[in-house]
Amino acid sequence: MNKKMTISSIKKAKGNRPLVMITAYDALFAKLLEPSADMILVGDSLNMTFGGKSDTLSATMQQMIYHTNAVCMGAKNSFVVCDMPFGTYRDKTTALENAIRVFQQTPADCIKIEGGEEKADIIKYLCSNGIAVCGHIGLLPQAVRSEGGYKVKGKTSDEQLQLIEDARAVEEAGAFCMVIEGVKAEVAAEVAKCVDIPVIGIGAGADVDGQVLVFSDMLGLYEEFTPKFVKKYLDGATLVKDAVKNYADEVNSRAFPKKEHTY
Ligand code: KIV
Repeated sequence: MNKKMTISSIKKAKGNRPLVMITAYDALFAKLLEPSADMILVGDSLNMTFGGKSDTLSATMQQMIYHTNAVCMGAKNSFVVCDMPFGTYRDKTTALENAIRVFQQTPADCIKIEGGEEKADIIKYLCSNGIAVCGHIGLLPQAVRSEGGYKVKGKTSDEQLQLIEDARAVEEAGAFCMVIEGVKAEVAAEVAKCVDIPVIGIGAGADVDGQVLVFSDMLGLYEEFTPKFVKKYLDGATLVKDAVKNYADEVNSRAFPKKEHTY
Protein backbone atom coordinates (compact mmCIF):
# COMPACT_ATOMS: atom_id res chain seq x y z
CA MET A 1 0.00 0.00 0.00
CA ASN A 2 1.35 3.45 -0.91
CA LYS A 3 2.02 5.87 1.94
CA LYS A 4 -0.71 8.51 2.25
CA MET A 5 0.44 11.93 1.05
CA THR A 6 0.53 14.75 3.59
CA ILE A 7 0.62 18.51 3.16
CA SER A 8 4.35 18.34 3.78
CA SER A 9 5.02 15.56 1.23
CA ILE A 10 2.81 17.35 -1.32
CA LYS A 11 4.82 20.55 -0.87
CA LYS A 12 8.10 18.63 -1.05
CA ALA A 13 7.09 17.06 -4.39
CA LYS A 14 7.58 20.44 -6.06
CA GLY A 15 10.73 20.33 -8.14
CA ASN A 16 11.15 16.59 -7.45
CA ARG A 17 8.28 14.80 -9.16
CA PRO A 18 4.90 15.60 -10.72
CA LEU A 19 1.79 15.12 -8.56
CA VAL A 20 -1.09 12.98 -9.83
CA MET A 21 -4.55 14.26 -8.90
CA ILE A 22 -7.81 12.78 -10.16
CA THR A 23 -11.44 13.37 -9.28
CA ALA A 24 -13.72 10.76 -7.73
CA TYR A 25 -17.25 11.02 -6.41
CA ASP A 26 -17.94 7.61 -4.90
CA ALA A 27 -16.32 4.80 -2.95
CA LEU A 28 -16.32 2.37 -5.88
CA PHE A 29 -14.23 4.52 -8.20
CA ALA A 30 -12.15 6.05 -5.39
CA LYS A 31 -10.93 2.55 -4.52
CA LEU A 32 -10.02 1.86 -8.15
CA LEU A 33 -8.21 5.19 -8.58
CA GLU A 34 -6.40 5.23 -5.23
CA PRO A 35 -3.38 3.05 -6.12
CA SER A 36 -2.19 5.48 -8.81
CA ALA A 37 -3.26 8.87 -7.43
CA ASP A 38 -1.41 11.12 -5.00
CA MET A 39 -4.54 13.16 -4.31
CA ILE A 40 -8.23 12.56 -4.95
CA LEU A 41 -10.40 15.59 -5.62
CA VAL A 42 -14.10 15.42 -4.85
CA GLY A 43 -14.80 18.12 -7.42
CA ASP A 44 -18.03 20.05 -7.71
CA SER A 45 -17.82 18.78 -11.33
CA LEU A 46 -19.89 15.95 -9.84
CA ASN A 47 -22.87 18.24 -10.41
CA MET A 48 -22.33 17.76 -14.17
CA THR A 49 -20.95 14.24 -14.50
CA PHE A 50 -23.01 12.69 -11.72
CA GLY A 51 -25.95 15.09 -11.50
CA GLY A 52 -26.39 15.69 -15.24
CA LYS A 53 -26.48 19.50 -14.79
CA SER A 54 -24.98 21.83 -17.39
CA ASP A 55 -22.56 23.50 -14.94
CA THR A 56 -21.27 23.20 -11.37
CA LEU A 57 -23.18 26.10 -9.87
CA SER A 58 -26.02 24.26 -8.17
CA ALA A 59 -23.81 21.81 -6.24
CA THR A 60 -24.53 22.03 -2.51
CA MET A 61 -22.57 21.53 0.71
CA GLN A 62 -24.79 18.56 1.51
CA GLN A 63 -23.84 16.87 -1.78
CA MET A 64 -20.14 17.61 -1.34
CA ILE A 65 -20.20 16.20 2.20
CA TYR A 66 -22.06 13.06 1.09
CA HIS A 67 -19.70 12.37 -1.84
CA THR A 68 -16.56 13.24 0.15
CA ASN A 69 -17.53 10.69 2.80
CA ALA A 70 -18.14 8.09 0.08
CA VAL A 71 -14.72 8.79 -1.50
CA CYS A 72 -12.98 8.64 1.89
CA MET A 73 -14.66 5.27 2.59
CA GLY A 74 -13.35 3.86 -0.70
CA ALA A 75 -9.90 5.45 -0.58
CA LYS A 76 -8.93 5.34 3.09
CA ASN A 77 -5.26 5.83 2.27
CA SER A 78 -5.63 8.87 0.00
CA PHE A 79 -5.19 12.57 0.51
CA VAL A 80 -8.73 13.82 -0.25
CA VAL A 81 -9.62 17.35 -1.37
CA CYS A 82 -13.22 18.53 -0.98
CA ASP A 83 -14.32 21.26 -3.41
CA MET A 84 -16.34 24.10 -1.92
CA PRO A 85 -19.42 24.76 -4.05
CA PHE A 86 -20.43 28.10 -5.56
CA GLY A 87 -21.62 30.64 -2.96
CA THR A 88 -20.34 28.71 0.06
CA TYR A 89 -17.21 30.86 0.57
CA ARG A 90 -18.58 34.25 -0.48
CA ASP A 91 -17.32 35.91 2.72
CA LYS A 92 -15.00 34.92 5.57
CA THR A 93 -17.69 33.88 8.03
CA THR A 94 -19.66 31.79 5.52
CA ALA A 95 -16.44 30.21 4.24
CA LEU A 96 -15.28 29.22 7.72
CA GLU A 97 -18.70 27.86 8.73
CA ASN A 98 -18.84 25.69 5.61
CA ALA A 99 -15.21 24.59 5.78
CA ILE A 100 -15.74 23.57 9.41
CA ARG A 101 -18.71 21.48 8.26
CA VAL A 102 -16.39 19.68 5.83
CA PHE A 103 -13.76 19.05 8.50
CA GLN A 104 -16.28 17.98 11.14
CA GLN A 105 -18.51 15.85 8.94
CA THR A 106 -15.92 14.19 6.65
CA PRO A 107 -12.32 12.97 6.94
CA ALA A 108 -11.25 15.21 3.99
CA ASP A 109 -7.70 16.54 4.27
CA CYS A 110 -8.35 19.96 2.79
CA ILE A 111 -10.85 22.08 0.94
CA LYS A 112 -10.46 23.73 -2.47
CA ILE A 113 -11.79 27.15 -3.37
CA GLU A 114 -11.81 28.96 -6.71
CA GLY A 115 -10.30 32.42 -7.05
CA GLY A 116 -7.00 34.29 -6.85
CA GLU A 117 -6.13 37.68 -5.39
CA GLU A 118 -9.80 38.47 -4.71
CA LYS A 119 -10.11 35.40 -2.47
CA ALA A 120 -6.79 35.84 -0.62
CA ASP A 121 -8.42 37.29 2.54
CA ILE A 122 -10.79 34.35 2.73
CA ILE A 123 -7.98 31.80 2.21
CA LYS A 124 -5.93 33.54 4.92
CA TYR A 125 -8.86 33.47 7.34
CA LEU A 126 -9.52 29.77 6.68
CA CYS A 127 -5.84 28.85 7.10
CA SER A 128 -5.56 30.83 10.33
CA ASN A 129 -8.52 28.83 11.64
CA GLY A 130 -6.99 25.43 10.98
CA ILE A 131 -8.39 24.71 7.52
CA ALA A 132 -5.95 23.43 4.89
CA VAL A 133 -6.65 25.12 1.56
CA CYS A 134 -5.91 24.16 -2.04
CA GLY A 135 -6.36 27.19 -4.32
CA HIS A 136 -7.76 27.20 -7.86
CA ILE A 137 -6.78 29.91 -10.34
CA GLY A 138 -7.12 30.54 -14.07
CA LEU A 139 -10.35 29.39 -15.68
CA LEU A 140 -12.85 29.18 -12.84
CA PRO A 141 -15.76 26.86 -13.69
CA GLN A 142 -17.92 28.60 -11.06
CA ALA A 143 -17.57 31.84 -13.09
CA VAL A 144 -19.03 30.27 -16.23
CA ARG A 145 -22.23 32.32 -16.12
CA SER A 146 -20.65 35.63 -15.09
CA GLU A 147 -17.99 35.25 -17.81
CA GLY A 148 -20.41 33.93 -20.44
CA GLY A 149 -18.59 30.63 -21.02
CA TYR A 150 -15.39 28.75 -20.26
CA LYS A 151 -12.63 31.15 -21.31
CA VAL A 152 -8.97 30.09 -21.57
CA LYS A 153 -6.81 32.50 -19.55
CA GLY A 154 -3.36 33.97 -20.11
CA LYS A 155 -3.88 35.18 -23.66
CA THR A 156 -3.15 38.84 -22.98
CA SER A 157 -0.30 40.39 -21.01
CA ASP A 158 -2.82 41.77 -18.48
CA GLU A 159 -4.16 38.27 -17.91
CA GLN A 160 -0.63 36.88 -17.60
CA LEU A 161 0.27 39.45 -14.94
CA GLN A 162 -3.00 38.81 -13.12
CA LEU A 163 -2.35 35.06 -13.04
CA ILE A 164 1.04 35.65 -11.44
CA GLU A 165 -0.54 38.03 -8.92
CA ASP A 166 -3.24 35.44 -8.22
CA ALA A 167 -0.76 32.62 -7.64
CA ARG A 168 1.40 34.77 -5.34
CA ALA A 169 -1.65 35.98 -3.39
CA VAL A 170 -2.96 32.41 -2.93
CA GLU A 171 0.46 31.24 -1.72
CA GLU A 172 0.94 34.21 0.61
CA ALA A 173 -2.53 33.65 2.06
CA GLY A 174 -1.39 30.20 3.19
CA ALA A 175 -2.64 27.70 0.61
CA PHE A 176 -0.36 24.65 0.40
CA CYS A 177 -0.97 23.99 -3.30
CA MET A 178 -3.21 25.20 -6.09
CA VAL A 179 -4.94 24.02 -9.24
CA ILE A 180 -4.41 26.09 -12.38
CA GLU A 181 -7.08 25.51 -15.03
CA GLY A 182 -7.45 26.46 -18.69
CA VAL A 183 -4.30 28.58 -19.04
CA LYS A 184 -1.88 28.90 -21.98
CA ALA A 185 0.91 26.38 -21.33
CA GLU A 186 3.81 28.84 -21.35
CA VAL A 187 1.98 31.17 -18.96
CA ALA A 188 1.09 28.33 -16.57
CA ALA A 189 4.76 27.27 -16.60
CA GLU A 190 5.75 30.83 -15.66
CA VAL A 191 3.14 30.91 -12.87
CA ALA A 192 4.45 27.60 -11.46
CA LYS A 193 7.96 29.10 -11.33
CA CYS A 194 6.76 32.16 -9.40
CA VAL A 195 5.60 30.26 -6.31
CA ASP A 196 7.11 27.68 -3.97
CA ILE A 197 3.95 25.56 -3.60
CA PRO A 198 2.85 22.95 -6.17
CA VAL A 199 0.75 24.21 -9.06
CA ILE A 200 -1.36 21.36 -10.45
CA GLY A 201 -2.58 21.87 -14.00
CA ILE A 202 -5.71 20.97 -15.90
CA GLY A 203 -5.63 22.27 -19.44
CA ALA A 204 -2.47 24.16 -18.50
CA GLY A 205 0.26 22.25 -20.31
CA ALA A 206 3.05 19.98 -19.14
CA ASP A 207 5.41 22.38 -17.37
CA VAL A 208 3.59 22.64 -14.06
CA ASP A 209 3.97 20.60 -10.86
CA GLY A 210 1.31 17.97 -11.53
CA GLN A 211 -1.86 17.20 -13.42
CA VAL A 212 -5.50 16.75 -12.52
CA LEU A 213 -8.24 15.24 -14.68
CA VAL A 214 -11.90 14.50 -14.11
CA PHE A 215 -12.03 10.70 -13.90
CA SER A 216 -15.13 10.33 -16.08
CA ASP A 217 -13.44 12.42 -18.82
CA MET A 218 -10.20 10.43 -18.86
CA LEU A 219 -12.07 7.12 -18.75
CA GLY A 220 -14.25 8.24 -21.68
CA LEU A 221 -17.46 7.88 -19.68
CA TYR A 222 -18.71 11.46 -20.02
CA GLU A 223 -20.06 11.86 -23.53
CA GLU A 224 -21.67 15.32 -23.40
CA PHE A 225 -18.49 17.27 -24.05
CA THR A 226 -14.74 16.56 -24.18
CA PRO A 227 -12.44 19.54 -23.64
CA LYS A 228 -9.29 19.72 -25.82
CA PHE A 229 -7.04 19.05 -22.81
CA VAL A 230 -8.62 15.69 -21.99
CA LYS A 231 -6.87 12.51 -23.04
CA LYS A 232 -9.21 9.53 -23.04
CA TYR A 233 -7.28 6.60 -21.57
CA LEU A 234 -10.28 4.31 -22.05
CA ASP A 235 -13.34 4.28 -24.29
CA GLY A 236 -15.45 3.70 -21.19
CA ALA A 237 -18.82 4.72 -22.67
CA THR A 238 -18.52 2.21 -25.53
CA LEU A 239 -17.30 -0.55 -23.21
CA VAL A 240 -20.17 0.02 -20.78
CA LYS A 241 -22.82 0.28 -23.50
CA ASP A 242 -21.55 -2.85 -25.26
CA ALA A 243 -21.49 -4.80 -21.99
CA VAL A 244 -25.03 -3.73 -21.07
CA LYS A 245 -26.28 -4.55 -24.60
CA ASN A 246 -24.67 -7.96 -24.26
CA TYR A 247 -26.49 -8.47 -20.95
CA ALA A 248 -29.82 -7.32 -22.42
CA ASP A 249 -29.40 -9.61 -25.45
CA GLU A 250 -28.68 -12.56 -23.16
CA VAL A 251 -31.69 -11.78 -20.95
CA ASN A 252 -33.89 -11.54 -24.06
CA SER A 253 -32.56 -14.82 -25.46
CA ARG A 254 -32.59 -16.48 -22.00
CA ALA A 255 -28.85 -17.18 -22.35
CA PHE A 256 -28.44 -15.53 -18.92
CA PRO A 257 -28.59 -16.71 -16.18
CA LYS A 258 -26.87 -20.06 -16.70
CA LYS A 259 -26.63 -22.92 -14.25
CA GLU A 260 -23.48 -21.45 -12.62
CA HIS A 261 -25.37 -18.22 -11.78
CA THR A 262 -28.28 -20.09 -10.21
CA TYR A 263 -28.85 -21.30 -6.61
O1 KIV B 1 -14.61 20.25 -9.90
C1 KIV B 1 -13.59 19.77 -10.43
O2 KIV B 1 -13.55 18.61 -10.87
C2 KIV B 1 -12.41 20.63 -10.51
C3 KIV B 1 -11.36 20.22 -11.48
C4 KIV B 1 -11.77 20.68 -12.84
C5 KIV B 1 -10.02 20.72 -11.09
O3 KIV B 1 -12.35 21.63 -9.89
